[in-house]
Amino acid sequence: MTRYAHVTGWGMYVPERVMTNDDIAAIVDTSDEWIVSRTGISERRIAAKDESTSSLATRAAFRALDKTDLHPHDIDLIIVASATPDHLFPATACLVQDQLGAVNAGAFDLSAACSGFIFGVNMAAQGIRSGAYDNALIIGSETLSRFIDWEDRGTCILFGDGAGAFVLQASEQPGGILSGVMRSDGSGGNLLAIPAGGSRMPATLETVHKKQHSIKMNGREVFRFATRVMADATREVTAKAGLEVDDLDLIVPHQANRRIIEAAARGLSLPVEKFMINLDRYGNTSSASIPIAVAEAVEFGRIEPGDNLVLVGFGAGLTWGAVALQWVAAEKEIPSVRIRQRRARAVLSHVRSWLRRLLRRIEGLIFGARAEGDNPKRNRPDRR
Ligand code: ACO
Repeated sequence: MTRYAHVTGWGMYVPERVMTNDDIAAIVDTSDEWIVSRTGISERRIAAKDESTSSLATRAAFRALDKTDLHPHDIDLIIVASATPDHLFPATACLVQDQLGAVNAGAFDLSAACSGFIFGVNMAAQGIRSGAYDNALIIGSETLSRFIDWEDRGTCILFGDGAGAFVLQASEQPGGILSGVMRSDGSGGNLLAIPAGGSRMPATLETVHKKQHSIKMNGREVFRFATRVMADATREVTAKAGLEVDDLDLIVPHQANRRIIEAAARGLSLPVEKFMINLDRYGNTSSASIPIAVAEAVEFGRIEPGDNLVLVGFGAGLTWGAVALQWVAAEKEIPSVRIRQRRARAVLSHVRSWLRRLLRRIEGLIFGARAEGDNPKRNRPDRR
């Protein structure tokens, strides 16, 4: 039996707070006119204090699951692509796994910046096609606002927060993810980076004063790189899928800059209308931008069952990649009782998680006391 990997669920979540170009112009020397003409961005979303990359990811994941008839415990694999994880470790994916109650899933983070979601979908599809997994959740989630230097007008205008997710499921029906391309060029790592906070440059007072925990970017070089690779990767992945570029119904590109997307369209001799663009409302949400754009494209009726799509991205690393897919999922009416059941399970999973932590503490106290009793050195009178 040939196995295929189909997108059966998709979902997005963006924080409520909207930050307009005028809001940014009140902080740095810029203007709405400059930002719109150079990037196409009008506004972006900013996470609330009590939100984080894992909480945005969990909300998007629940929305994606709501499109399917799966429960969180049916998920075998969770990949969270993020350039702004909750911590260096544990993996944000593990926090999401816990918040979803996906008790049977292996979970890990994938670091490939804005290309992370593409890399994650490609890897999960390969795992499903090989028979290793049946149901995978791939999430792109970012809180880039926490890593922005709000005095640097070259970067603070670009980024926003948000999350998007896909559920991929095994199927015997042809279609789904058809091909993938993943590329990297580490020689360009310095063009777009958060220099400090890792093992090479641990946090010190100096790194904080020099703002080395925020995004540093050579915008012109990244722009040149992006315009080159977007068209190349689209062409390559389309050919690998056995399709012509003219067979594509929609291209969903990474939402970094409208001018980059227009250059890709010119490079492919396609009208820009063939590209899904929503960066005007969300800015660049890095790994989340493609799944957010797919979720909106479905909502706006721009993706129909049978459509051939290419998702294509580029980002820090440098990394770039694309997947070609045939969309097979039709909007299903999932009974609201099932959705309520899932929410109830999520509450139960919080309780389970809390109980496990409590149990670990109790066990720790008991074993600690025992170990102390068993340790002859500790029992020596002079040690007391
Ligand atoms: N407002 C007003 N003027 C500005 C601003 C601003 N926000 N930013 C820069 N300028 C000025 C510059 O100082 C410069 O002035 P000068 O000519 O007097 O020196 C002038 O505008 C032109 O600057 P450029 O950097 O050449 O502007 P450019 O047209 O290249 O636009 C931009 C800058 C928007 C950053 C563009 O280079 C870009 O989009 N690059 C790609 C960035 C990107 O996509 N990054 C994300 C990658 S994905 C990931 O992994 C996160």
